[in-house]
Amino acid sequence: MDTHALITGAVGGLGKAFAAECAWRGWNLFLTDLQENALATLTGGLKRQFNVNISFYPCDLTAPRSRVELWQEIQRLNLHFHMLINVAGIEYEGDFIRRSLDELHTILRLNIENTVEMTHRILQFRDPQQTLYILNVSSLACFFPMPMKAVYAASKRFLLDFSLALREELRNENVSVTVLCPGAVPTNPRTIRRLNAQGLFGQLSLMNAGDVAAIAIERTLQGKRIIVPGIFNQMLQRIALLLPPTVLAAFIGRRWRRARKEQ
Ligand SMILES: NC(=O)c1ccc[n+]([C@@H]2O[C@H](COP(=O)([O-])OP(=O)(O)OC[C@H]3O[C@@H](n4cnc5c(N)ncnc54)[C@H](OP(=O)(O)O)[C@@H]3O)[C@@H](O)[C@H]2O)c1
Repeated sequence: MDTHALITGAVGGLGKAFAAECAWRGWNLFLTDLQENALATLTGGLKRQFNVNISFYPCDLTAPRSRVELWQEIQRLNLHFHMLINVAGIEYEGDFIRRSLDELHTILRLNIENTVEMTHRILQFRDPQQTLYILNVSSLACFFPMPMKAVYAASKRFLLDFSLALREELRNENVSVTVLCPGAVPTNPRTIRRLNAQGLFGQLSLMNAGDVAAIAIERTLQGKRIIVPGIFNQMLQRIALLLPPTVLAAFIGRRWRRARKEQ
């Protein structure tokens, strides 16, 4: 059976890096993202470089109907998977009160609802001969209650807890669930602007997408539970585990207010 890796958010900064890393390993791919043209361009580029089969299907992963159509296509193509990489995710930062309800719903639908559905559905389409690896892309933000990114950080916390719990539940089913918690990855202009605004912390936390993807795939295959790439980011994770959440939230809130005054 020809098995595939399924990558969501495949034409984003991290998604592309994951697609290249998987193709380099000789894995067949099924890619999804919003824009059909961008998926076609990425697929063409990867096929020229690597000798693998790649299919794609554009999908608005916040829309239940669109997700149903995606899985109908997967069924039509009779694909089976040994890996799911849930990369697609979104962040709108700034005062909670100033965020539109549309923005807040999009975070919840893409980061939480979509990841849960993709994870549930892939279990029906796994390659029964192989371990199924599920890699959920959370964020270093999942270890902190974060004023100005409250919904985003909490959605990534959901992914952390969800991944750890599911990992235990599916242990005897030959399914390995891993959660990736990257710090700062300069992927697109919006993210780069945000990272610059975070000053020294943003710079120290920085890692390029290719390195993050390579580390993440390697450790996922080793069956790791949580991956935090980068020594500075691992230090921040340890601090977060030591301090009470109330202290962390107050500290982060003060930093944001100060950064805003300086802008
Ligand atoms: N970059 C970082 O510093 C960082 C740090 C920690 C965690 N992460 C996480 O890593 C993941 C990837 O981040 P990234 O920086 O690579 O972001 P990105 O470049 O914005 O990639 C995300 C991709 O998801 C797509 N997408 C957005 N809404 C979608 C929808 N409704 N349906 C289907 N696809 C949709 C985007 O398409 P469009 O571009 O067309 O909207 C984009 O191609 C996210 O989960 C993010 O939270 C990133």
